[in-house]
Amino acid sequence: MRRHDILNDDLECDVYDLVHCRALLLHLSDPMRALRRMAAALCPGGMLLVEDADFATMAAGPGHPAAADFDRLMRAWVDFFGRNGTLDAGIGRTLPVLLDELGLVDRGSESLEFRRTGGSPEAELFAQGFELARDGVLPGEFPPGTDFAPVIGALRDPEFGFVDSLNVGAWGRRPRLGYLG
Ligand SMILES: C[S@@+](CC[C@H](N)C(=O)[O-])C[C@H]1O[C@@H](n2cnc3c(N)ncnc32)[C@H](O)[C@@H]1O
Repeated sequence: MRRHDILNDDLECDVYDLVHCRALLLHLSDPMRALRRMAAALCPGGMLLVEDADFATMAAGPGHPAAADFDRLMRAWVDFFGRNGTLDAGIGRTLPVLLDELGLVDRGSESLEFRRTGGSPEAELFAQGFELARDGVLPGEFPPGTDFAPVIGALRDPEFGFVDSLNVGAWGRRPRLGYLG
């Protein structure tokens, strides 16, 4: 185990049977650079597996009084992180094509969607994130007058259901012979 900046620190080439990352690329200023470096670290025949979120699927279930507030706030949340450069909320859906550039074989991709319930650990993570935003702890401004209370309440209400971000996985193998693209 080591502390390592995938964009800048030295990384061995041609050695790893498996290179995997999850919820990493969406935070990087240059995800393609990271992907090229990870692919170059594979030994011939080695497998690259990358997973990342896509927030396009986030949506409240119908019928709950806070459903429309949730959908509105979630869009503001994604815009907020896009503006302050914390994350690219739409990277997940692009992973299969980002891997096109790497010259890998045996390519595939798969996405998983999750239904969450208010009061679950995943809902609580969002609730605490919204509390930080409400209290001005996060860097950047939410639209003036944003009312976080109904959504934080819904996220702790077992009657509330929502679809979480999509988890997209994409993979490919380095050819045993020849060169990476
Ligand atoms: C959302 S967390 C995901 C953690 C874990 N991979 C998981 O799926 O639970 C994002 C992770 O990316 C790491 N990270 C961000 N920028 C990085 C970089 N340039 N090089 C290596 N890791 C980085 C952070 O340290 C953090 O651990």
